[in-house]
This record gives sequence, structure tokens and C-alpha cells, in this order.
Amino acid sequence: MNSPDNSAGSPSTPRLRASLETFPPYVPGKAPKRIEGLAPFKLSSNENCLEPLPAVVDAMVAHAKDPALYPDDAALALRTDLAERLGVSIDELVVTTGASELLVALTQITSDATTEAIYPWPSFEMYPQTTGLAGSKRVEVPLREDGRHDLDAMAAAITDRTSLIILCSPNNPTGPALRDEEVRRFLTQVPKNVLVALDEAYWEFATAESVVDGVDLVADHPNVVLVRTFSKAHALAGLRVGYAHAHEAVIQGLLKAVIPFGVTDMSQAAALESLRHSDEVDVRAKEIAAVRDDFAHALRDQGWDVPEAQGNFVWLPLGELSSAFEDACVEQAVAVRNLGDGVRISIGQQEGLDRVLAVAAAFHSEHFS
Ligand SMILES: Cc1ncc(COP(=O)(O)O)c(C=O)c1O
Repeated sequence: MNSPDNSAGSPSTPRLRASLETFPPYVPGKAPKRIEGLAPFKLSSNENCLEPLPAVVDAMVAHAKDPALYPDDAALALRTDLAERLGVSIDELVVTTGASELLVALTQITSDATTEAIYPWPSFEMYPQTTGLAGSKRVEVPLREDGRHDLDAMAAAITDRTSLIILCSPNNPTGPALRDEEVRRFLTQVPKNVLVALDEAYWEFATAESVVDGVDLVADHPNVVLVRTFSKAHALAGLRVGYAHAHEAVIQGLLKAVIPFGVTDMSQAAALESLRHSDEVDVRAKEIAAVRDDFAHALRDQGWDVPEAQGNFVWLPLGELSSAFEDACVEQAVAVRNLGDGVRISIGQQEGLDRVLAVAAAFHSEHFS
């Protein structure tokens, strides 16, 4: 008989899986402190600082009428529109409750206690959570000094137990985006039976030359799955809509792991309407990218070593000063994200960014001049 993971645990506590002890819980970005006379800014969760487009809000209202009914489980209208825009088959798409659900489902369909998952680190905090929960061995490959994936080291980490590799482009929290050529070279070193998830949550903000595009990669590689979301550029984080694109065999696997009826009718309608305004969404994403570039340049001008920033956020590698920097921002009514070895600042309204710049300037002259 198989014994449960923690059969050695106390008989008076519920039998939870031992793998729960191997990774920390997900910690969401904090809300800003309320300070008299200062407008608060939440720059801690990589949310879009703009509201959804008015037509999208209208679509939400129009679809908020029938909560007694289950939504379309197949998300047919949304998948049909996505398929046309991406130039792929609807059978190569699945719509989920944000990219987060996909990350869970991808580990469910690839990973267990006999397998290994490789991902860059630091990167998105859900990677240790989902792969750890599945019980697989977590192989965290440190980023290079410049905050980029170390693809050579990731390739060298592959064993015959590897079942899942996650790439994040642009990488949350450090910012650099992967280039098409380096990912294709990497894929030549990955066995065909290893699933490679390319997480492009911030794809629309990337402005660098030759940034990898998962749709092209999937066309050439049956072991690649592209993960995208409406949470970031589409400003719909609260509605929880994401999607995966992959060859049909992978999608069929994912369909067995995702939650039935997860994406509400209102969320599907909003995402569809936002897609219909893709041009405007793109213009706004590029406006945010321009603010990001100015912010990153201003920090570099102060003397900070800021990695290439391609998402809607900028990474300050503060090391042991991270907590002090976060605290100084808190006192300016600005919430930033302290991740231990650095602080991530989401692009928001200029006033909030200016306050962070003032804190950064004071920190730099106090600690590095
Ligand atoms: C890299 C990355 N992937 C996936 C997600 C999950 O996005 P969502 O579940 O909101 O679609 C996030 C959210 O911050 C992220 O940063």
C-alpha cells in the first residue's frame, strides 16, 4: 500500500503532502501606506496603470446579466478571434483563469515526484510553487549577472528526468526579453519529449529588436507551449483571463487539467472586446514602455546598474539594501516589490515614479558615492 507523503507527521493534524514544505507560499504585492497629503501609488504587482478601454467596460456591463448560467466552457468566441489574429487553429488554443491557471495545469500534466522542472531564478514566484506542489525536483538556474536567462546552464541542467522547462520573456522581475535566435539555439539542445513553456505575460511591452515570439516558435516546435495573459497589456488582471497556444496534443492534455467553466462569461466578453481593440491596446503598451525606458534611463543616470527592462517594470538590484529601500518608498506612500535581492518597480503614474527616483537618488549618494 502507498503511504501518504507525510505519514510520519502527527496523527492529530490533517495529512497534507510533504511537498508543501519545499516551497514558500505566493506573496502578492503590498498596498501602499496611506500618508496624509500624499497620493498613494501601488507599484508592487505589475498591474497596468491604465484602465481597460471604455468599450471593454461596456462589454463587461452587457455581460453581467446572467450569473445563474455557466459560461461557455470552450470559450469559443474568444478562441475563434484569437485563432484568427494569431494565424493558428482554435484546436491549438485553451483559455484559462489567467496565465496562473496554465502554470498549474502545465505542471499537472508534466510533473510528479519522479520528474525534474528547470526554470530561471529569480523569475516569477509561481514557478517554485507549481512545480513544488507537483512534487517534482526543482532545478533553479541562476540568471546571469545582467539579469538574463543563462540558457547554456539551463541546457546543461537537463537530465533524463526533466519533463518541464519554463522560460520567462520578458523575465519577471529582472526585465530582459529573450531573443528568437538564442531560444531556437536552446531548443536544439532540448529533447523532444521535454515540454518547454514560454511565459510571455509581458510580451506586448517588449520593444527590443528580435524578441522571441512564441507563436512562431510553436509552429516549429511541438514541445513548446506559449503562455499569455490579458492581465497586463489588456489591463484585465481582475477578470482572470489567459491562454495557451501549443500543438493539439499538448492542448488536449491541458484540457484535462484546467478548471471547467473557470473563465466567466463577463471575462470572456471583455477579453474578446479588448482583442478587437488590439491596435489601441498596443499603442498604450508602447506608451507604458516609453515611460519605462525613461525611468530606467533616469536610474542609470543616477549610477544604478539596471538590467534591460522589457516589461512594465524595472528591476533595481539593491541586494541587502532592498528592505531599507522598500521602507523608504513606503514612507512616500509608494508600494514597490521587495524580492530580497532587489526591488521591482511597476511602471505607474509619473508622480509615483518621481518619488521612487528621489528615494533612489538619495540611496545612491548615501551608499555608493
Ligand atoms: C511572468 C508571469 N507569468 C504569469 C503571471 C500570471 O498572470 P495572470 O494569472 O494574471 O494571467 C504573472 C503575473 O504577474 C507573471 O508575472
